[in-house]
Amino acid sequence: MIITYENKKSKEDIITQTVSAKLETIFGEKTKNKLIQGNNIQVLKTLLSDYSGKVDLIYIDPPFATNGHFKISDERANTVSSSNDDTIAYSDTLIGDDFLEFLRERLIFLRELLSERGSIYLHIDYKVGHYVKLIMDEIFGRTMFRNDITRIKCNPKNFSRKAYGNIKDLILFYSKSENPIWNEPHTSFTEADKNRLFKRIDRDGRRYTTIPLHAPGETTNGDTGKEWRGVKPPTGRHWRSAPSVLEKLDKQGLIEWSKNGVPRKKIFLAEKKGKKMQDIWEFKDPQYPKYPTEKSLDLLKFIVKASSNEGDLVLDCFCGSGTTLVAAQELNRNWIGVDQSDQAIKVAQKKLFQIPASLFSKVEYEFLKQHNVRVHTS
Ligand SMILES: C[S@@+](CC[C@H](N)C(=O)[O-])C[C@H]1O[C@@H](n2cnc3c(N)ncnc32)[C@H](O)[C@@H]1O
Repeated sequence: MIITYENKKSKEDIITQTVSAKLETIFGEKTKNKLIQGNNIQVLKTLLSDYSGKVDLIYIDPPFATNGHFKISDERANTVSSSNDDTIAYSDTLIGDDFLEFLRERLIFLRELLSERGSIYLHIDYKVGHYVKLIMDEIFGRTMFRNDITRIKCNPKNFSRKAYGNIKDLILFYSKSENPIWNEPHTSFTEADKNRLFKRIDRDGRRYTTIPLHAPGETTNGDTGKEWRGVKPPTGRHWRSAPSVLEKLDKQGLIEWSKNGVPRKKIFLAEKKGKKMQDIWEFKDPQYPKYPTEKSLDLLKFIVKASSNEGDLVLDCFCGSGTTLVAAQELNRNWIGVDQSDQAIKVAQKKLFQIPASLFSKVEYEFLKQHNVRVHTS
């Protein structure tokens, strides 16, 4: 299913007609991390020459086609309706087809930059998110779509509209291939989960549950289909381990026998990292943001941990106040951040400098202190 609209360019035209940006001071410097100021489409085209297929994780939080101007104020970051205000951090005035094409052009470059095991997370709202999903399906492929994550962003509010209150936005998660980098995230068990899922307690006071010792499917090696202690796996199933291993587990007290002589494996609460993370997340953004629409650092750290490893390269080409860059730096990943707003670059630098210097290499710290990399587009 392909979305069509007027003035939709071909991928080839987008790639060939986009003018690269000359990035001042960026190349030849000894640092892997870069904060670049400029129109991201031109910067992305330039980055292609050095970073094609090398970016492991992309997070973007672009404008949401709100037709508003976002301003910085001392206390809070707000939207304003007029553009005659020098505290405006950025304007979000592209709407409809123009907005979709703006995003599509950038996504085409971003896919080229992603590594084979790379992933992209795109943060968007419920008003345009479903159109953006079609664009992402087109660029990354429907089979590479992994999740539409519901992000609970705020407490319930009393809207006057005849509609349900809106407390969520969404994050569209795609990978470049079938085998993306993936560090399975977990959430902690609540007391209620512990009582429900690990009902039994052994003599040593350890909570546990039990699971069948057999799994579906005919035996794959001779041993797992054999009788053990006079019990055969049920028809169409096989032991999870060979009888010799089951024997050892039983000696270690890791098997529980029912009154009817059915063995089950004990699973202890203490061995579990937590529950599998589902696709509804609650990460509230800062109450007093330093930059309008600044996102939660915890949210970004969560994504960075799940979809990249230490030393990997993380890119955010709508980086705003640099939340993604801070998350990447604190988690020992390399990063590239791009934004065209003066205010964004200033706040991002400030936030990066609040990270303890020990988390930067000396050369990186000196570099950041001296430069914010500017782009000349002529
Ligand atoms: C929603 S904000 C990002 C906020 C960010 N996630 C944070 O936590 O601070 C979107 C950002 O995209 C930037 N932006 C919009 N269009 C751009 C473009 N063509 N090139 C570079 N940056 C752009 C804006 O200046 C703004 O800072």
